[in-house]
Amino acid sequence: MKKLVVMLIVAAFVGTAFVAVASDNGPAEVKYEVKMGTVTFNHTAHQGLTDCATCHHTEGYAACKSCHDGTKAPKAKDAYHKNCKDCHKEKGQGPTKCKECHVK
Ligand code: HEC
Ligand code: HEC
Ligand code: HEC
Ligand code: HEC
Repeated sequence: MKKLVVMLIVAAFVGTAFVAVASDNGPAEVKYEVKMGTVTFNHTAHQGLTDCATCHHTEGYAACKSCHDGTKAPKAKDAYHKNCKDCHKEKGQGPTKCKECHVK
């Protein structure tokens, strides 16, 4: 719990600093409701962990699926899994097993 509070404070600080250059930090939380089970992604908390460009590798902040349709860019499912799981594996933190992310 303590860790989460610290993380949120860091996120809030980064958020504030960022407002000076851009006004849209996006949604605080994103829920992906898929058959496999709902994935809850805490965007704000993740913004405190790394640079925006780690996930938004392009200049803008367009929704991933606007490009990741399997033709212009790799399929969305593969892009999310690679982005999310690779970092969790690398850091040894965050869910890596199916049911830790996909909750029914
Ligand atoms: C750990 C990965 C990650 C980081 C870091 C991150 N984002 Fe995001 N961001 C996402 C995901 C995932 C979405 C949801 C969009 C989707 O799934 O298509 C999103 C959505 C957004 C959106 C809304 C896009 C839309 O039109 O739906 C904005 C704006 C945004 N992010 C800005 C930022 C900014 C600014 C930062 C840095 C301060 C940042 N993000 C850091 C992953 C990340
Ligand atoms: C403007 C279009 C665009 C947007 C928006 C976009 N991507 Fe991508 N992405 C691409 C393209 C094109 C590639 C393929 C690049 C290559 O192969 O060199 C790619 C590659 C990737 C890869 C590597 C895939 C692999 O198999 O190596 C990941 C992971 C990824 N994107 C995640 C994301 C996430 C997460 C988001 C949303 C937060 C996002 N992308 C938003 C265009 C986009
Ligand atoms: C750059 C590294 C990185 C990326 C990319 C990343 N995460 Fe994480 N994630 C972490 C770390 C580190 C933690 C552990 C943070 C903690 O609990 O202190 C975490 C924790 C989580 C948690 C558990 C805690 C919570 O926030 O509820 C979930 C769920 C999660 N991540 C989902 C995702 C999803 C979904 C994506 C892709 C859209 C993603 N993550 C992308 C680093 C990352
Ligand atoms: C780190 C979190 C995370 C983990 C771990 C994870 N997933 Fe996912 N998964 C996601 C996200 C985010 C999406 C994108 C949902 C979307 O496209 O709207 C997704 C999408 C999917 C989809 C596509 C759903 C659809 O209807 O398009 C399937 C199937 C899936 N995951 C299966 C799995 C399986 C099987 C595992 C274990 C081997 C797994 N996932 C592990 C986060 C995760």
